[in-house]
Amino acid sequence: MKQIFVTATDTDAGKTFVSCALIHALTHHNSASTNETMKVAVFKPISAGCELVDGQLINEDAKLLSEFANCNQSIAHINPIAFEQPIAPHIAAKKLNQQITIADISHHYQQVKSLNADVTLVEGAGGWRLPLGPSPHSPVTLDAKSTFSNHNTETTSDNKKLPYQFLSDFVKGAKLEVILIVNMKLGCLNHALLTYETIKADGLECIAWIANCAASDAMNNLSENISELEKLLPIPKIAQFDFITDVDEAGNNISYHEKINRAANKINLSVLV
Ligand SMILES: Nc1ncnc2c1ncn2[C@@H]1O[C@H](COP(=O)(O)OP(=O)(O)OP(=O)(O)O)[C@@H](O)[C@H]1O
Ligand SMILES: [Mg+2]
Repeated sequence: MKQIFVTATDTDAGKTFVSCALIHALTHHNSASTNETMKVAVFKPISAGCELVDGQLINEDAKLLSEFANCNQSIAHINPIAFEQPIAPHIAAKKLNQQITIADISHHYQQVKSLNADVTLVEGAGGWRLPLGPSPHSPVTLDAKSTFSNHNTETTSDNKKLPYQFLSDFVKGAKLEVILIVNMKLGCLNHALLTYETIKADGLECIAWIANCAASDAMNNLSENISELEKLLPIPKIAQFDFITDVDEAGNNISYHEKINRAANKINLSVLV
């Protein structure tokens, strides 16, 4: 089973858009071993920005992922930790007197893994280093080899240091392979390189990157920027997506599903199948 974590240079970079395109491409691809279409399960561990429907918090990303994946998962199965307000999740949790823990995320991930899909795709939230807040476990002695560097701590009122946790610590624990989505805009070279270097420093494999134009106004010198990243990132670029407008040349509306279909056709799946 392939386990992929989709991260990006920032929020709104196209993680959900690209994830749906990857899922669409994979579910229309026959597995080499069984010659059957591939089974893809999805996981969006944390979301902030949800609609309350019949007492259940529904996140749009989880809904979209569920429409493309093919393992009959419920929204709650896909997205177990959800907050209504569109703010940093650990701040949303704190306002509700809740804590987001790696143990909780890992427990829910095990349930998704137990579906035994050919590919399990996990969409992150925000960028790579998404804070989850101080660990609720008893204070630990921090050393140089600790997962958490010493400055990533919160001091409690009784002067104990609690280590801060990040979503990337879950990715480390689950040993997921990472795909990096680069939102092609001014500043993306710095963001892409910092994110790639941090993923590597965390001891994880970043197996591919995708250039995505998530905004309608294309950046100046787009092709030169993509060429620079091709030189600087030592991993394959497996797709390049232009911004796909809502209306085509003939004036017809293009649905989200049609956009995803068009994007999926441009992906080189060789690192995934
Ligand atoms: N190549 C593209 N063409 C057209 N629209 C795009 C493209 N990439 C992204 N978008 C649109 O840009 C917006 C942001 O993309 P998306 O929601 O996928 O970002 P994200 O990284 O998942 O954000 P979040 O951090 O909130 O999860 C969405 O409306 C999406 O449909
Ligand atoms: Mg998203």
